[in-house]
Amino acid sequence: MKPVKVGLLGLGTVGGGTLNVLVRNAAEIARRAGREILVTHAAAREYRAEGLEGLDKVEVCDDAFAVVDNPDIDIVVELIGGYSPARELVLRAIENGKHVVTANKALIALHGNEIFEAAQKKGVTVAFEAAVAGGIPIIKALREGLAANHIEWIAGIINGTGNFILTEMKDKGRDFADVLAEAQALGYAEADPTFDVEGIDAAHKLTILASLAFGIPLQFDKCYTEGISRIQPQDVTYAEQFGYRIKHLGITRRTERGIELRVHPTLIPERRLIANVDGVMNAVLVKGDAVGPTLYYGAGAGSLPTASAVVADIIDVTRTLTTDPENRVPHLAFQPGELSDVPVCPMDDVVTAYYLRMTAVDRPGVVAAVAGILSEAGISIEAMQQKQPAEGEVEVPLVMLTHLVRERQMNVAIEKIEALDSVAGEVTRIRVERLK
Ligand code: HSE
Repeated sequence: MKPVKVGLLGLGTVGGGTLNVLVRNAAEIARRAGREILVTHAAAREYRAEGLEGLDKVEVCDDAFAVVDNPDIDIVVELIGGYSPARELVLRAIENGKHVVTANKALIALHGNEIFEAAQKKGVTVAFEAAVAGGIPIIKALREGLAANHIEWIAGIINGTGNFILTEMKDKGRDFADVLAEAQALGYAEADPTFDVEGIDAAHKLTILASLAFGIPLQFDKCYTEGISRIQPQDVTYAEQFGYRIKHLGITRRTERGIELRVHPTLIPERRLIANVDGVMNAVLVKGDAVGPTLYYGAGAGSLPTASAVVADIIDVTRTLTTDPENRVPHLAFQPGELSDVPVCPMDDVVTAYYLRMTAVDRPGVVAAVAGILSEAGISIEAMQQKQPAEGEVEVPLVMLTHLVRERQMNVAIEKIEALDSVAGEVTRIRVERLK
């Protein structure tokens, strides 16, 4: 059989890794795919040739549209990232009848509905395993391995950079900015690292997971997003004293009120396996009604782990080149005409437990006033501790864990607590999930 010809868009961290894996493992990949897979063309404005294997056999230009329009190319692999021109390139590749593989979570989360519809019409595949959790085959698992299940919820550490920062802060007391700079140097961080630390990257990925799990259209604009930049070292310490770790989680859950879709720092019990996922590693916990909880763990970012997922997609697409387009695994796991319109529920309606920290004047009646406000809002306290004041300070940190409460009620209570004369500044709130 003729080799399959691949056009690579981008020769950066992931593009370079993809080329290297395809060249290094070429013989074994051909045995799996049933034919040879060759990168014949690539487009990159700037790249470092050093360390790129087999580059001499690749025609490199700086015009990505020329690669997309090249009639010899069977599969376009988009590894440029960002919204534009990635969207235009992918749509043009589809228009040209080419299959597409992409690692671009931002593109899929925002424009996936449009892209899959176009691909469906043309009978081509757009594969995106590398878009979520780097090397972990979580999309394959959700779309195929767990297809028998009614998925109940997913909770994941799906941003390697954020997890790396939280881990280094906790274990080594390192400075936030310093760890972020290291993550950038290692090629983990997004081009705009605020996407990592403010939770936007995780929200892109969670949006994709929710669609695959529940058969709903991609709705990135409905995802609640809160980053890790406001986590204080004392919160990490106090959480540990309560038996919890703070992780930046993406959580999506099927409820009677709709689908919860939220990314935020979260206290989770330290005995859960996922609480011990450190560094750049990612982990996704999926609860299906038949299988129960399942956990997927691996490197969530980096050149070769992400290339592992990209190349798996290229092999998958190669295997299906001769199959009837109607009988391929659907892009969003459910048949395109079978997507559900169950709504994403607003954050105000989400029910969780909370960790609260406030700075209070150390005098009689303060704790009673705070407890009174919580009780009035129907919020039950599970544990409360008054900590030692900092050196030379008269005000004391007051930390507590609550039972489950609707976010709307908690907002009202926090507003009232912040208005107390005896409480200084803002109340820190971190949601708590027991992940049972
Ligand atoms: N910036 C992303 C992360 C890369 O840190 O997880 C992988 O999507």
